[in-house]
Amino acid sequence: MINFDCLTLFPEMFNGILEDSILKRAIENNLIEVKLHNFREFSTLKHKNVDDSPYGGGAGMVLMCPPIYDCLHSIENNENAHKILLTPQGRKYTQDVAKELSKKDHIILICGHYEGFDERIRSFVDDEISVGDYILTGGEIPAMAIIDSVSRLIPGVLHNDESAPTDSFENNLLECPQYTKPFDFMGMTVPEVLVSGNHQEIDKWRKEESLKRTKERRNDLLDKK
Ligand SMILES: C[S@@+](CC[C@H](N)C(=O)[O-])C[C@H]1O[C@@H](n2cnc3c(N)ncnc32)[C@H](O)[C@@H]1O
Repeated sequence: MINFDCLTLFPEMFNGILEDSILKRAIENNLIEVKLHNFREFSTLKHKNVDDSPYGGGAGMVLMCPPIYDCLHSIENNENAHKILLTPQGRKYTQDVAKELSKKDHIILICGHYEGFDERIRSFVDDEISVGDYILTGGEIPAMAIIDSVSRLIPGVLHNDESAPTDSFENNLLECPQYTKPFDFMGMTVPEVLVSGNHQEIDKWRKEESLKRTKERRNDLLDKK
């Protein structure tokens, strides 16, 4: 069971992923719990502002420390949780990081918005994560990507626990090609070995194809291997 607490200005953005399919079932089966906290509610300002213009001038608005600090400290057991700030300046998110996070009991995710956040917010967290070298409008999509990818590594979340270990990036390899019915689609047929019934040969073919695909598309993964 992992508890996720997510600090966000837009909690309704999470409805889609939490109310459908695999994550919905994981919540119902008490394998994960996701609580959303709108830190605007912690603003003590008259108009519930959570941001202000940057010191020194410049474009955009910067998220202020107090609402995020107070929201974070309102979360039960926050002192023992793994606190993550979503930022394009963080360490890059990969399957290895997802695996590392799947061992935690309690994860707190802080979603930025607007131009960014007051630098001092960095001192509230244990970790900073980026989902890639591009800029999103907020940390909600990265938080959802983390909740989704970590949750599916928790035993029992996927219907077939066998499928996660053969996914791409396991053992630094891409997954081999997959086929299903019909055998012949517009003249494109399924490799004969897959219908041979010879499981040793099928296994060998899959390993070779996985290696070949990784070499062609992601040679960098083989360096890690
Ligand atoms: C428009 S971005 C601000 C980017 C900031 N001005 C900078 O250059 O680092 C607003 C927020 O979206 C989130 N965000 C944007 N891109 C992200 C990424 N690649 N990974 C993680 N979070 C991201 C962060 O929480 C960020 O504070």
